[in-house]
Amino acid sequence: MHINLISDTVTKPTKGMLDAMMSAQVGDDVFKADPTVNVLEEKVAKMFGKEAALFFPSGTMANQTGIKLHTHPGNQLICDKYAHVYNYEGGGVSFNSGVSCKLIDGHRGMITARQVEAAINPPDFYHSPLTSLVCVENTTNKGGGACWDIEELKKIKKVCLHHNLAYHLDGARLWNAMVQKSETPLAYGKLFDTISVCLSKGLGCPVGSVLVGSKELMNKALRVRKIFGGGMRQAGFLAAAGIYALDNHVERLVDDHKKAKEIGEVLLNLPYIKTVEPIETNIIIFEIDESVMTGEVFVDTLKENNVQIIGMGQGKLRIVTHLDYTNLMHEKFLNILKTL
Ligand SMILES: Cc1ncc(COP(=O)(O)O)c(C=O)c1O
Repeated sequence: MHINLISDTVTKPTKGMLDAMMSAQVGDDVFKADPTVNVLEEKVAKMFGKEAALFFPSGTMANQTGIKLHTHPGNQLICDKYAHVYNYEGGGVSFNSGVSCKLIDGHRGMITARQVEAAINPPDFYHSPLTSLVCVENTTNKGGGACWDIEELKKIKKVCLHHNLAYHLDGARLWNAMVQKSETPLAYGKLFDTISVCLSKGLGCPVGSVLVGSKELMNKALRVRKIFGGGMRQAGFLAAAGIYALDNHVERLVDDHKKAKEIGEVLLNLPYIKTVEPIETNIIIFEIDESVMTGEVFVDTLKENNVQIIGMGQGKLRIVTHLDYTNLMHEKFLNILKTL
């Protein structure tokens, strides 16, 4: 039995999802004529109380489109130093939009309204880049699946309104946060100009993200997506997976969170584990006491036991639970950890 815990993106479609994909009605989505893509977009827009939505091949492209919509070359966006848009999107912020990032030293990938306010460049001081956008991430990937306090997000919204800044949410794992904190998509839709959500992470789809916003913004996004090469033809096969996942795979995320907590508890009791970051959702970030064992040896030893986990740099290791991590695998993995 191979146990892959490197990411929640490693899942394969379930039988139900495959059936939904195979029976999808499709058309050419570049002509907006794929009925299943249209249903998915309407469904997600409605969930978030937004006018429109657009289906994307990846979370990266959905975020990069959001950034492109809200900025002009030479502008600056504000984000946490851990932000995916800054660290893991290949420098797309500068490549695609000609924008720089003002990085904030936040807590587990989350920043405060006060920090945002202090990071805004005065608009009349023409020596500095013009601040035009604030990007936040929920849950935070590099921050270990941490969930925001929605009250802080509301405070940041006020700052954005006051300073005329756009507000984008990288909600790749927003489903995990909403399930964990009993929050609604509508509450998030009210706060942000654009939100990207991934279908290919905790929800178990093979491909797909959705960007939501106003009709005007999504019309512009359609053009940007085309320029980025993200116009897909019979994409309904993929959208059908998304619809199935939204109907069947959201509530079950609590199971991934429970398993992650249980793994964390076992890790905490191992003599060679230095720290385990608080576990709120499906991501576990921890450090090995390198005076006892290096992270590399730990990863290799797990590999010999058919378990794959991943390093995050700076001595940190990451485990992510997901739809394909079964109860049986969980039992086996906990035993492996206890007997290493
Ligand atoms: C927080 C966050 N945002 C965006 C993305 C990008 O998604 P994709 O891999 O579909 O481009 C990821 C992927 O891991 C992520 O963790």
